[in-house]
Amino acid sequence: MAATLSRRSVFKVLAGVVAVASGGKAQYGYAPSLAYPALKVGNINNLRDGQAVYFNYPDGSAQGVLVKLGQRAIGGVGRGRDIVAFSAACTHMGCGVQFKGGRFVCPCHYSMFDPAKAGQCYQGLASTPLPQIRLRVAQNGDLLAQGVVGLIWGRARNI
Ligand code: FES
Repeated sequence: MAATLSRRSVFKVLAGVVAVASGGKAQYGYAPSLAYPALKVGNINNLRDGQAVYFNYPDGSAQGVLVKLGQRAIGGVGRGRDIVAFSAACTHMGCGVQFKGGRFVCPCHYSMFDPAKAGQCYQGLASTPLPQIRLRVAQNGDLLAQGVVGLIWGRARNI
């Protein structure tokens, strides 16, 4: 007797094949192997503690925000390892987050994200962290964005 597969089973099998073939990363659209641009988003000498600087990355339609927290942060760069950057699009429905009181707050439904803990959401409707933008400090103090960890809201692929 021939076994029949439901549509759901077929999708699961296909998803598994894609996951194995891609090393488990490509299906999320933010694999480290993606060719992200390196883009200057600020200079370490121009930042003050608690200041947020908005920029576009990895392209003109994606807003990012960098902050100097004044305290060590996961993925932080600079002397105090306190400079971090994230996608500014809330992971709930894409509203632009604002930096207030040491955290990112979404004005639409008040999700809150911790920039010191890799953008983790600790309150509200968002269920995933803000995608973190990888930073590197050049010798002259320029801050270079060079990748995104996590999928930017509303996208199938980051680039
Ligand atoms: S869009 Fe940010 S909490 Fe809903």
